[in-house]
Amino acid sequence: MEDKRLPDVLKKLARGPQIITLKDAAIISAFTGMSPGDIVVDAGSGSGFLAIYMGNLVRPSGKVISYERRPDFAKLAQGNVNKAGLEGYVTIKEKDIYEGIDEHDVDVITLDLPEPWNAVEHSVRALKDRGFLVSYVPTVEQVRRFASQCEKSGLKHVKTVECCVREMVLHERGTRPQIKGIMHTGYITFVRK
Ligand SMILES: C[S@@+](CC[C@H](N)C(=O)[O-])C[C@H]1O[C@@H](n2cnc3c(N)ncnc32)[C@H](O)[C@@H]1O
Repeated sequence: MEDKRLPDVLKKLARGPQIITLKDAAIISAFTGMSPGDIVVDAGSGSGFLAIYMGNLVRPSGKVISYERRPDFAKLAQGNVNKAGLEGYVTIKEKDIYEGIDEHDVDVITLDLPEPWNAVEHSVRALKDRGFLVSYVPTVEQVRRFASQCEKSGLKHVKTVECCVREMVLHERGTRPQIKGIMHTGYITFVRK
């Protein structure tokens, strides 16, 4: 791939389901301290953007295993991983994560799917002690249900955040914040084993 910097690579990839934005991916990696060598489980792969972002961070000694239950999206995500040149670090696994997580001693699990509470018990078994489970959902009701399931399963709530980034418009006649754009993406909840 001619472009080596991740934002340039991501711009050229195919899009299927709604992708996670770079601002939200950045918050996830910052607050979990994601680093080279980490083992990360992700679901669902969707277009593979978050998996690719994280694969770029954990290489060369770590890896990302991303679960996707729809064969068409698994194929799309795999194509994007190959285009990004990260196939050695990101594995797209065609499997419903609500049926179980095969990996153990996982550092971070990311859930960008509608019912993350269904993957909490599996996550508890897969995570290493002090590992992070992160959910990304659009509504407060989903946050509450996920946090409540985590509490029942013995995971400690660390924080729930929304990441708002407001761009500035630079004009000759004046500089001011952008007045249109995406106003809401998702709430990000961090819990810890
Ligand atoms: C919003 S997309 C994820 C986007 C992805 N994070 C990205 O940045 O490109 C949600 C994906 O989760 C998948 N999904 C939903 N439930 C799932 C499950 N139980 N196991 C695996 N994948 C699931 C959907 O098929 C869809 O592709």
